[in-house]
Amino acid sequence: MLYFGANFPPTVQLFKMMKFQGSHILSVSQFDRDAIAKILHVSAQMAPYASRQKRCHVLDGAILSNLFFEPSTRTRVSFGTAFNLLGGFVRETVGQENSSLSKGESLFDTAQVISGYSDVIAMRHPKMHSVEEFAKGSTVPVINGGDGANEHPTQALLDLFTIQSEMMHFNKGLDDLNIVLMGDLKHGRTVHSLSKLLSLYNNVKVTMVAPKALQMPDSVISTLSNAGHEVVVTDTMAGNLSCDVIYQTRIQQERFASKDEADLYRGHFSLNKSVYQKYCQENTVIMHPLPRDSRPEANELDTDLNDLDNLAIFRQAQNGVLVRMALFALTLGVEEQLTEHEKPVNWFTNRNN
Ligand code: NCD
Repeated sequence: MLYFGANFPPTVQLFKMMKFQGSHILSVSQFDRDAIAKILHVSAQMAPYASRQKRCHVLDGAILSNLFFEPSTRTRVSFGTAFNLLGGFVRETVGQENSSLSKGESLFDTAQVISGYSDVIAMRHPKMHSVEEFAKGSTVPVINGGDGANEHPTQALLDLFTIQSEMMHFNKGLDDLNIVLMGDLKHGRTVHSLSKLLSLYNNVKVTMVAPKALQMPDSVISTLSNAGHEVVVTDTMAGNLSCDVIYQTRIQQERFASKDEADLYRGHFSLNKSVYQKYCQENTVIMHPLPRDSRPEANELDTDLNDLDNLAIFRQAQNGVLVRMALFALTLGVEEQLTEHEKPVNWFTNRNN
């Protein structure tokens, strides 16, 4: 059914505690622990389909519009892959210059039109809160793929999924976690969203390592400290990296006034094997939302870490498919129908070996 004008279907709303079906996913503030547990549980159920042991075309015929008005590789492709794996079609618009936003169309109008063509929309945009503004004009669920320096909820959920699965090897969970966030914490939307999610767990210690000018916004720090967690704010690596998980981030050059200004901070907190061995614990898990800036002047996560089992960055990116599949299944209300749509995989694949 298509909806025109301002008569939005009553199912498309932002809920505090979640009824997933028909809901937008705009901010991690929507979730409580139960909602997250549900998402992580459904994500794990997606593993056999993502690894091609079985297929599940429960969204056969559904249409995702993937609107990416800012550069992206893994978020855009994994949203599309996730939807395809569930049997749906994907339409993409990439870059503002290729869309009618460059002709002065409002986000509201674009949303009215595109939601008429789609069952669900994933969107990334450089302006903070733009995805929320867009969602007001949409008649179908909108999933935030990153709105400027504000939030990146699906990344934070996949980060949490990754932390949970990595910590399982050490008989730990999301409670009592000791995590270091390092790099550009001011502009990094992934660490904003992740910190807010971590505040929901018990007895978390978060150490924020960043140049003073690029420290975490106060509002994010107070979300953690108001929930009773220990927060250490520092601009020194020495003595501060002993943790379960170190989460490195990129200097977000696109959020600075100029490249020269971003260059001032590049390479300050490079993590390489010698730093890791000197300051981290033996089993510290290394995460990064990617892309890592591997240019010599930045080298924020050295390739000499590539042979460490605890480097989780590619497992983390892979988990993005599972979590995005789960979010599509939940927002489109098919999470209970997965097994009845299962079929064998007929083509050659060595993915599950
Ligand atoms: C991040 C982003 O776009 O915020 N990338 C991603 O989605 N995996 C982090 C970054 O670009 O540095």
